[in-house]
Amino acid sequence: MKRWGTYSGFPRSGGLRPENLGQNALAMIGNLCFTLFVLGVLIFTIIAATYQPEDPLFHPSTKITNFLVSTSNATFRSDESVLKTGEDFMSSNQTAFAAFINVTDVLVINVSANSETDCDRFAPIDCTDSDLFHVMMRATIEQFKDIHFYKFGKPVRGSNDSSCDMAWRFRPKEGKRAAFYKDYRRFVISRTENCTYTVDGVGEYHSGLNARKKKKQAKHGSDGGFEPKGADSSAVAVTKLPVVGDAVNDTVPVVESESTFSSGKYLIYNGGGDRCKSMNHFLWSFLCSLGEAQYLNRTLVMDLSMCLSSMYTSSHQDEEGKDFRYYFDFEHLRESASVLEQSQFWTEWGKWQKQDGLSLHLVEDFRVTPMQLADIKDTLIMRKFGTVEPDNYWYRVCEGETESIIQRPWHLVWKSRRLLEIVSAISSRLNWDFDSVHVVRGEKAKNTELWPNLARDTMPEAIISSLRDKVDDGRDLYIATDEPDTSFFDPLKDKYRIHFLDDYSELWGEQSEWHSEMKAINNGNPIEFDGYMRVEVDTEVFLRGKKQIETFSDLTKDCKDGINTCPATS
Ligand SMILES: *[C@@H]1O[C@H](CO)[C@@H](O)[C@H](O)[C@H]1NC(C)=O
Ligand SMILES: *[C@@H]1O[C@H](CO)[C@@H](O)[C@H](O)[C@H]1NC(C)=O
Ligand SMILES: *[C@@H]1O[C@H](CO)[C@@H](O)[C@H](O)[C@H]1NC(C)=O
Ligand SMILES: *[C@@H]1O[C@H](CO)[C@@H](O)[C@H](O)[C@H]1NC(C)=O
Ligand SMILES: *[C@@H]1O[C@H](CO)[C@@H](O)[C@H](O)[C@H]1NC(C)=O
Ligand SMILES: *[C@@H]1O[C@H](CO)[C@@H](O)[C@H](O)[C@H]1NC(C)=O
Ligand SMILES: *[C@@H]1O[C@H](CO)[C@@H](O)[C@H](O)[C@H]1NC(C)=O
Ligand SMILES: *[C@@H]1O[C@H](CO)[C@@H](O)[C@H](O)[C@H]1NC(C)=O
Repeated sequence: MKRWGTYSGFPRSGGLRPENLGQNALAMIGNLCFTLFVLGVLIFTIIAATYQPEDPLFHPSTKITNFLVSTSNATFRSDESVLKTGEDFMSSNQTAFAAFINVTDVLVINVSANSETDCDRFAPIDCTDSDLFHVMMRATIEQFKDIHFYKFGKPVRGSNDSSCDMAWRFRPKEGKRAAFYKDYRRFVISRTENCTYTVDGVGEYHSGLNARKKKKQAKHGSDGGFEPKGADSSAVAVTKLPVVGDAVNDTVPVVESESTFSSGKYLIYNGGGDRCKSMNHFLWSFLCSLGEAQYLNRTLVMDLSMCLSSMYTSSHQDEEGKDFRYYFDFEHLRESASVLEQSQFWTEWGKWQKQDGLSLHLVEDFRVTPMQLADIKDTLIMRKFGTVEPDNYWYRVCEGETESIIQRPWHLVWKSRRLLEIVSAISSRLNWDFDSVHVVRGEKAKNTELWPNLARDTMPEAIISSLRDKVDDGRDLYIATDEPDTSFFDPLKDKYRIHFLDDYSELWGEQSEWHSEMKAINNGNPIEFDGYMRVEVDTEVFLRGKKQIETFSDLTKDCKDGINTCPATS
């Protein structure tokens, strides 16, 4: 893991002392460090440059198209809900370049050198003392064994004279998902007789509110914390990984002035049959429009309002009035691509269209390719889609010869960081040290024609016997499931400490941060933690388990999509 952080050492860490080395040796080491640094940057750059996210599920992409066009069949539903987005295609190797902070990196305070004879043990604690900073870092690294630390923020005063708040950036040690997480906790500090600091207690996840940055720092590393030097902070910035736990600012971008608006070029997709379809369908279509806008160097005018398909709603009806930001990271999209919200666009268009002679180019046939539109000079290109499915699906624009020209910009769409924040909170409460099992029951278990063994193989007794060799007794076990009655799994309590999504419902309850932030997006009205969000959080927590036991292949021999649909291999 640790590639080149080790070469630079730390200002005060003592190992590599200049005065102990001859000038030549020093120069040689300097050169070596520099060579290694250049090599590291080079390797990183090459990887960053050649890295192309693959399309999910999809290879070839006709497969997903066929899959989406097939009238949605109940049998597909639960699997469709597990949606992949851009960050899922970054291999975690990409982040291996950023060296984590090893406990040996943090200074051991030499007590005798520091102690003052006339120290007042009971004076208020000065949270900005750098010795204390090191004591707190050490205590943190030693307490949380299952995560790697990448950066510590300088401590700030906590709730009183004996507490300090500190933030840090981390990744789970065994993380397969490409993301950083942020935590900030409250530390209770005291002094010993000889005036060294001790940490008497560390608060819960996100308890150190004073260390939480209200506004996101524009520049990584500008807030003067502690991170491994030479560990390459630029790698983190270039790769652009989501940081779960940073405050989210996903306000709709505003048009700055008439001239910026009128000199812009825009693309809008209008109508079509994509609304209220599955999330996979939505994403496949949306990314086509975004890909075309990027190809044409135009701003995509997008509709943030969404319709949630009945397959995810508790009412079992399609539900209008949802928002892109409930499910996806609009801040990331807004910062990495040129997009504008459509009602705002039309307002500006109404104001300036006549006066500035803004023109519209209408395209009503999806067979008109983006390449044919490359020379259009009009301010706005509008693709209008009809009423006949499946020819009115947006993604049809990206079929045929276009497929090889327009690549869907997967890296622009990430999952909502507010939802991942819930995932991170659950995982943190389990200390990032749990195993997980996914138990699919629901409709599939009832359909014995397509899944003859599923119901039996997912009974608690059967699960216990499947887990026997895989999960040690007494472990924390997270059960991701569509079984509504969790008491069904009670027999597992004898062997494991079991946890379900609903055990954490206060994370989206009325007192939660999620709840208040969502209300703010929705004009002050509360929103439901809907079926899609549930499945997404449940799945993501499952994917953070150390051992992950899947229903299909691990618990049962039945195939995911029904009898005789198992992949031919193995
Ligand atoms: C839907 O599922 C049934 C089996 O339950 C199958 O016979 C049918 O072909 C499927 N429909 C489509 C469009 O895939
Ligand atoms: C990523 O890591 C895995 C194992 O950790 C390794 O098998 C694979 O080759 C690595 N990929 C790259 C591109 O380094
Ligand atoms: C920390 O560094 C030391 C020496 O550099 C190494 O032996 C140890 O394995 C490292 N610890 C971790 C957790 O990587
Ligand atoms: C701590 O200080 C003592 C006395 O000043 C010294 O002998 C010892 O080497 C120091 N230890 C470290 C780790 O610097
Ligand atoms: C200071 O705050 C900490 C954390 O909130 C608490 O545990 C501690 O009891 C408080 N100390 C005093 C003296 O109030
Ligand atoms: C300082 O005090 C602590 C506990 O009170 C003790 O463990 C430690 O050895 C002392 N250190 C020195 C250098 O006296
Ligand atoms: C959110 O971001 C927008 C656009 O970058 C900015 O204008 C606005 O001030 C930010 N709001 C907050 C609260 O930081
Ligand atoms: C978009 O801009 C790039 C770089 O400025 C240029 O190479 C490309 O030809 C442009 N594409 C179109 C369709 O205008």
